[in-house]
Amino acid sequence: MRPRDDCREKVVDLFAGCGGLSLGFEAAGFATHGFEMVHSAVETYRRNLKGPCEEVRLEVGFEYPVADVVIGGPPCQPFSVRGKQQGMNDARDGFPVFIDAVRRLNPRLFLFENVRNLMFSHRWYLDLIIGELEKLGYAVEFKCLNAVNYGVPQNRERLVVVGHRSSFSFPRPEREITTVADAIGDTMETIPDGSRLLTPEQDAYIAEYERKSHCARPRDLHPDIPSRTVTCRNLAGATSDMQRVRLPDGRRRRITVREAARIQSFPDSFEFCGNEVQQFTQIGNAVPPLLAYRLALAVRRTLEQMDAVPEQLALRRRPRHVQTTLFNI
Ligand SMILES: C[S@@+](CC[C@H](N)C(=O)[O-])C[C@H]1O[C@@H](n2cnc3c(N)ncnc32)[C@H](O)[C@@H]1O
Repeated sequence: MRPRDDCREKVVDLFAGCGGLSLGFEAAGFATHGFEMVHSAVETYRRNLKGPCEEVRLEVGFEYPVADVVIGGPPCQPFSVRGKQQGMNDARDGFPVFIDAVRRLNPRLFLFENVRNLMFSHRWYLDLIIGELEKLGYAVEFKCLNAVNYGVPQNRERLVVVGHRSSFSFPRPEREITTVADAIGDTMETIPDGSRLLTPEQDAYIAEYERKSHCARPRDLHPDIPSRTVTCRNLAGATSDMQRVRLPDGRRRRITVREAARIQSFPDSFEFCGNEVQQFTQIGNAVPPLLAYRLALAVRRTLEQMDAVPEQLALRRRPRHVQTTLFNI
C-alpha cells in the first residue's frame, strides 16, 4: 500500500509567508509545499507544517515540483491603499511569477488572495491578470471575502481569485460571528509576558488622533465585537492605530504576538520564529487559517467533481496560447 502522503493532492504555495494559507489546505488533507524568501517565515513554516518550505526568491522561469493545485499570496504592497500604489511598476509585483507558475505547472486549479483594492483602483491590472490566466485555459472567478464570516474574530476583507476547468463555489458565510473576547478573553484584561504598556505620550497622541478623526468609539479592541483588520503595520509599529487593549485600571497595552495570532485564527500550538517584528509581520501578512481551511474545502469539492466526470465529457479548456508579451514570460 502507498503511504498516505503519496495519495494526497499536491499543493504548491507561492509567497508562502509563515504558512497561514498552507495550514488551511493541510488541515483539509492536501500535501503542501511552500516557497518563500524570508528566512524567519521559512523557519516558521517548517516548524509548523508537515510539508517542506524552500527558501528562495521566486523569479519567472523557476522550476517547480509537479502540483495539482497552485495557491499563493503574491506581495500586495504594490496595490495596498497604504502603499505608493505603483502596481505593475513596483518591483515587488508577484503576479508575473504566479502566472508563470500556472503556465508551467498547468494545475487542476489555482487560487490566489490579495488586497481588495486590486478590484478597485487597480482594476485594469486585475482584468489583465485574469485575461492572461484565461488564455491558459481556465475559467476564472473572483470574490471579496470577509474573514469574519468564516469564524475569524476579525473584519478582514480580501480578494480571492480561483481558476478551474469545472465549477467552483466560494464557501458560504457562517451564521455565528466570533468576537475578540472569544479569541483573547482570557488574556485581554491581564498583562502577559512580552506585552508593552502604552506610554502617557502615546496615550495622548492616540487621543489627539481620535479627536481629529472624529472616532465615535476608541479604536481599542472591544471584547464584544470582531477586531478591525490586523496588519504588519498596526501590530509591529507604534502608530496611532496600533492594536491595543484597555486594562481594567484604564491603562492600555499593545497586543502580544499570541493574541495577534489568535485574532488571525492560528491555533496556540503554532509557533512563530524570528524576532518580535518578524513574528508580527508573518501574522499580519497571513491568510487566516480558518478562512484558508474553508477555501480548501471548496477546492476539494471542485476536484472531486472533476474526478466524477468521465474524461470524455469533461469541460475542455485548452491553452489558447502560452506566450504573453505584456508580462514578458
Ligand atoms: C502576503 S505574504 C503571504 C502570506 C501567506 N499567504 C500566508 O498565508 O501566511 C507575501 C509573502 O511573499 C514573500 N515574497 C515576496 N516576494 C517574494 C519572492 N520573489 N519570492 C519568494 N517570496 C517572496 C514575502 O516575504 C511575504 O512573506
